[in-house]
Amino acid sequence: NGEQLLNDISQAGDLGALDAIRVSALGKAGFITAQLKSLGKMTPEERASEGPKIHALREQVTDAIASRKSALENAELERRLATERLDLSLPAAEAPSGSVHPVSQVMDELAEIFADLGFAVAEGPEIEEQWYNFTALNMPESHPARAMHDTFYCEPRSEGEEPRVLRTHTSPVQIRTMHNNPPPIRVIAPGRVYRSDSDATHTPMFHQIEGLVIDRAIHMGHLKWTLETFLKAFFERDDIVLRMRPSYFPFTEPSAEVDVGWSMEKGRRVVGGSEGWMEVLGSGMVHPRVIANCGLDPDEWQGFAFGTGVDRLAMLKYGMNDLRAFFDGDIRWMKHYGFRA
Ligand code: PHE
Repeated sequence: NGEQLLNDISQAGDLGALDAIRVSALGKAGFITAQLKSLGKMTPEERASEGPKIHALREQVTDAIASRKSALENAELERRLATERLDLSLPAAEAPSGSVHPVSQVMDELAEIFADLGFAVAEGPEIEEQWYNFTALNMPESHPARAMHDTFYCEPRSEGEEPRVLRTHTSPVQIRTMHNNPPPIRVIAPGRVYRSDSDATHTPMFHQIEGLVIDRAIHMGHLKWTLETFLKAFFERDDIVLRMRPSYFPFTEPSAEVDVGWSMEKGRRVVGGSEGWMEVLGSGMVHPRVIANCGLDPDEWQGFAFGTGVDRLAMLKYGMNDLRAFFDGDIRWMKHYGFRA
């Protein structure tokens, strides 16, 4: 019986069969286990002669199982080494990956350009009080410019509260920054803004970036140099030409709209040169009343401000034509314009 068992062990074809044999011999109901149990009922003489035999068999069987097990495992390893070859020269399969959205990328580019010019980044809430969004910016309640903004109004949270608005531009960050920081100030404020408007060139949510400089003896020349330097760096061209047109914003005086020159290259309109003009920015000298609304003395402190659409800048730089596609979340569109992780 012992011999038969040892023979079975050496013939076991795989680890499963080997384990079945182990259980049948050494398991709780195994026959060697049963023999060991029977020792207790034997006379001392029987036990003295049978005990060593049973223990020896158990040891033999245990050793045989262990060596058969390692032989089977080795054979399995050899088989896998022989069959599972890894060809390290094969190209890796492409894993799907996310990428930085063009708007985020342009905002990063802008923050970097302005950081080099000494501008910090300022932020404000997207749900804004009317005082910051309009009143402090020299747009009192009856001001017609309030109607021009197609404002989203929030439900008042309590009776009598003036409804807050989804900010219609990043200009309220000018006010918050002047409130919370002593001049001199040099900041940009990128972020989401909202207007009730939707077609191929307008989405109800879009992105602006605001610039604000407050210091002593600041003038329009500083504004023009800053915008020129920024646009040359952003479009990575030296032939950027600016044209400043007199305009009107309630919070700047004088105000200027800034056009950038374009020209035709390979049948496409690109920024640079001056075959034609397109508007890219609103700007001006911060209105003395706005400076006073922030608790500063306009005779001591002057400055300039500008605001522009980040989505527009992204479209111009990367040759995109439908603003709505920016917010569809279609990965194929991102890939088409070369935005990868
Ligand atoms: N806030 C203005 C707009 O949204 C842009 C602007 C900013 C103009 C700062 C002048 C100065 O149209």
